[in-house]
Amino acid sequence: MKILVINGPNLNMLGIREPQIYGRETYRSLLEKIECYCKAKSLDVEFFQSNHEGDLVDRIQAAYGAVDGIVINPGAYTHTSVAILDALKAVSIPAVEVHISEVDKREEFRQISYIRAACIATITGHGTDGYLEAIDILCQKGESK
Ligand code: DQA
Repeated sequence: MKILVINGPNLNMLGIREPQIYGRETYRSLLEKIECYCKAKSLDVEFFQSNHEGDLVDRIQAAYGAVDGIVINPGAYTHTSVAILDALKAVSIPAVEVHISEVDKREEFRQISYIRAACIATITGHGTDGYLEAIDILCQKGESK
């Protein structure tokens, strides 16, 4: 099983950006943690991060026919991007939406997710462990096929 982990804008600044909200773990150590988790489960994993909406759309399109599941934290584009929603719908690859913080308890604008409608599950507020939970959900979905 092959999983693609996509991170949107500013997630490359993890560990530096607002640590009181997003914690002190760096983007690099997040990738290492996910890689280790996937290795133990014999899963192939690929990572992509971009600060640009169109690049995220391009990467989702490129995943068509090439990956079995997508874990996506679209960052701020969660709350604005119909284009990312449409890309996820277009490829119809099972996707899980992840947010490190509890977006549903933050500012009103963060409580809206355009992406959610194209995802089989959403995990918020579990810190970076949410990415691992998302992988488990995709594995369960893969097994039940
Ligand atoms: C985030 C929440 C978003 O509102 C924010 O713009 C982010 C990170 C999270 O992981 O909690 O960049 O997606």
